[in-house]
Amino acid sequence: MTTAPAVGRPVDRVDGRHKVTGGAHYSADVRPTDRAHAVLVGARVPSGRVTGIDTDEARQAGGVLAILTHENLPGIATQPPLLPSLAGMPAPGQTFFPLQDEVVHYSGQPVAVVVADTLERAQHAAALVRVTYQETPSVTTVAQGRDDAYVPDAIFGGFVPGRSVRGDVEAGLAAADVRIDATYTYAANHHNPIEPAATTAVWDGDQLTLYDATQGVAATQLTVAALLGLSPSKVRVLSHFVGGSFGCKAMIWAHPALAALAARHVGRPVKLSLTREQMFTSVGHREEQEQRIELGADKEGRLVALRHHKLSPTSPFDDWAEPSLGVASQLYACAHYEGVYRLFRANTMTPTFMRAPGEASGMFALECTMDDLAHQLGIDPVELRLRNYSETDPTTKNPWSSTGLKECYARGAERFGWHRRRPAPRSHRDGDWLIGYGMAAAGYPVYGPNNPQRARARLYADGTAVVQAATPDFGTGVATVMTQVAADALGLPWERCRFEGGDTALPGIAAAVGSAGAGMISAAVHTAAARLRDQLVAQAVADSQSPLHGADPAAVTVRDGRMMLRDAPATGETYGDLLHRNFLPDVEASGAWSPSPESHHYGMMTFGAQFAEVAVDPDLGVVRVRRMVGAFAPGRVLNPKTARSQLMGGMLWGLGQALLEANYMDPRRGRWVASGLGDYLVPVNADAPDIEVELVDVTDDIVNPLGVKGVGEIGQVGAAAALANALHHATGRRVRKLPVTIEDLL
Ligand code: MOS
Repeated sequence: MTTAPAVGRPVDRVDGRHKVTGGAHYSADVRPTDRAHAVLVGARVPSGRVTGIDTDEARQAGGVLAILTHENLPGIATQPPLLPSLAGMPAPGQTFFPLQDEVVHYSGQPVAVVVADTLERAQHAAALVRVTYQETPSVTTVAQGRDDAYVPDAIFGGFVPGRSVRGDVEAGLAAADVRIDATYTYAANHHNPIEPAATTAVWDGDQLTLYDATQGVAATQLTVAALLGLSPSKVRVLSHFVGGSFGCKAMIWAHPALAALAARHVGRPVKLSLTREQMFTSVGHREEQEQRIELGADKEGRLVALRHHKLSPTSPFDDWAEPSLGVASQLYACAHYEGVYRLFRANTMTPTFMRAPGEASGMFALECTMDDLAHQLGIDPVELRLRNYSETDPTTKNPWSSTGLKECYARGAERFGWHRRRPAPRSHRDGDWLIGYGMAAAGYPVYGPNNPQRARARLYADGTAVVQAATPDFGTGVATVMTQVAADALGLPWERCRFEGGDTALPGIAAAVGSAGAGMISAAVHTAAARLRDQLVAQAVADSQSPLHGADPAAVTVRDGRMMLRDAPATGETYGDLLHRNFLPDVEASGAWSPSPESHHYGMMTFGAQFAEVAVDPDLGVVRVRRMVGAFAPGRVLNPKTARSQLMGGMLWGLGQALLEANYMDPRRGRWVASGLGDYLVPVNADAPDIEVELVDVTDDIVNPLGVKGVGEIGQVGAAAALANALHHATGRRVRKLPVTIEDLL
C-alpha cells in the first residue's frame, strides 16, 4: 500500500478545467458592485509636449465620471528605482510615471484617463478627448541613434555591468588561426499573451484591493504602495488567473496605480484593461538591436577570443538592455573575452524582460557564428561544440552545480537523426524543396531570489492539506506542481492536497521571473510541508496513546497520510487518528527558503541543445519548419507534462523569433508599425512543426532543495539559431537578421 511519489508524474493541470470551461476569473472579470471603467488615451506624437487638452465634448458624453490629465491627477509620492522583480522590492517597469507633467517622451504614453460607468461609454468619451501637441524631433531606431551611443555603467536594473572583460581580447584575436567578424540585426519583439494587462481597483476606506494580472503580487503591491505613498499593509493584491505573460507582467507598469488613482477619484471600483493596441506601448518590449561578434579560434576550432558588442535603444529614463551577452560569455571555454553594451536614448518606453530575455538574442548571434566556424573548418557542428565544452563557468572558474550539456548534444542528435546530415549546404533535397539540418546549444542561468521565499501548509483532521504561497500561476502550471511537491513532502496523495496562491495575504514569494519560479516556490513549499510532516511525527512519538510512541522520528515514514515505522509498517497510525484523538481540527506549519551561501561558489545554468529541419522553396523563398528537437537538462522535472508544455512553448517562440515576430519603428512618425495580431505575426498551429522534447536527467544538490533548474525560458534559447543554421545548410545562405523573411532567401 504505497503511493508512488507525485513529483515526476504528468499530473493534469489542477486549474485546467476552469480555464477551458469559463470557470477561471481573470483580473478584468472581477465585478465589484458599482464597477466603473477606465480607458487610457495615449500620446499621438513620440516627442514634445501637450499644449492643450480639450475635454468639453468628452465630459458631456453620457456616463462620464472623470477625465484625469496631468492637470488634475494627484502627483505620485515616490518613484521607486528600477530593479528586476526577482529582487522582491518595488519593481516599476520604468522610472517614469505618466500624467505628472506635459512632456511627451514616447508615442502611446498615457496623457489622459477617462472613467465612465460602462466600458463603451468610456471608450466613446476617450475618443472625444482632443489633445494638441507641440512635436519635437524624435529618435526611435538604431539607424538614427547609432552615433549617440554610450556605454552605461550597468544595465538590467543595475545588475549587469556595461562592460565585461577577461584576458586580452585584442591579443587573443591577433593570435587566432581563424577569425570571423559578423554583425546580426534584430527587429523589436512584442509580448502577446492572450490576456492583455488588466487591473480592477477597489477601495474600502483607506484599504486598497487590486485584482491585477501579474507575475508577482508582491511586486504590484510594493510598487503601487510606493507610487501612491501608502503602507504596503494597506494594499492587497490578488491574481488568481493570469492569461499568459512571457515577461510583460514581470515588472509593474503604470496601469495598476492609474486604476487605483482613478478609483479613489470617482469613489467607485474601477477596471482598467489595456487594449491589444495599447499592449504595444504600455508594458515594455524586446528592443531592436544589433550585435557584433568577433571570434577567433585555432585550427581545431577551439575558441581563443570572443568579442561581443550589442547596440540598442533605451528609454529617456533608464539604462535598460536585455542581457544578451551573459550566457553567450559562459557557454564555452574561451580565455580572452570582451562584452560591451552600448545604448542610446530613444523615444520609447523602457524595454523589458521577454522570454529568455537576452539569451534568446545573444545566443542567436553566438550560435550562428559557431555554425560559420564549423562550416569554415569542416568540423561537424556538434563536434565543434564538444571541443569547446567548458568544465567550469568560464566567467568565474567556478564548477557547474550540474551540467548535462554533453548528454543533451548526444541525446538530441540521436533523436533528431543528426548522423544523416551531409555537411555541404544544398546537399539534401525533397522534390523541389531544399532541406537543411541545423543545431545550436542552449543555456539559461539558474537565478535565485535574494529574500526568503515563504509558504504555509495546513493539514486538516480529515487528512486533506492546503498549502499556500503568494505566487500567481500565469500559465506555467505552478499551482499543479506545488500540489505535487506538497503531497510528497507530507506523504499524502496529491489529490488530497490543494495549492492556494495569487494573494499578498499569503506567505510571500518574489515575482516568478527568470525561470526561477519552480525552483524557489518548490523550495518554500517543500520546506513548509516537510516541517508540518516533522511536526506531526514529533507529536505522534510524544503521544503515549500513539502506536508510534517513543519511536525515533527518523525511523518514521509517511505514506497515504499514514505514519509508520519504515522497518515495521504495521506499526503506525494516520494523521487523522492523531488529530482526532487530540481534539485538533488542523495543524499548520510555515517554512522559508533562501539560496544557500554555498551556491555562490558554483556556476548555475540549465543546458540544452536544439536541432531543426527546414525545407525551403528556392523559387519562392518559402520556409517550412519540418521538425524541431530540443534536449534539455532542467534538473528535477516536477511534472513532465507541464514541463514539456513550457519547453515546447519556448521552442515555438524560437520559431516565431526566427521567421515571424517583428515590429519596427516608423522613424518619420516615431510609432510602432504593428499594433495588433493582424500585423504582428506569431506562430499558429499551421506554422508549428512536429516538436519533440527530450528531457535529460541531471541531479543538482546545489540550486535548491529539489534540484529544480527551471523550464520557462531555456526552450527558446538557441531555437532561432538552430533554424537559421538549418536555413544555411539548406540554401548556402547565411542570413544574419531576425526574423528571416522570404526576401532574404530569394
Ligand atoms: Mo521572464 S521573460 O524573466 O518574466
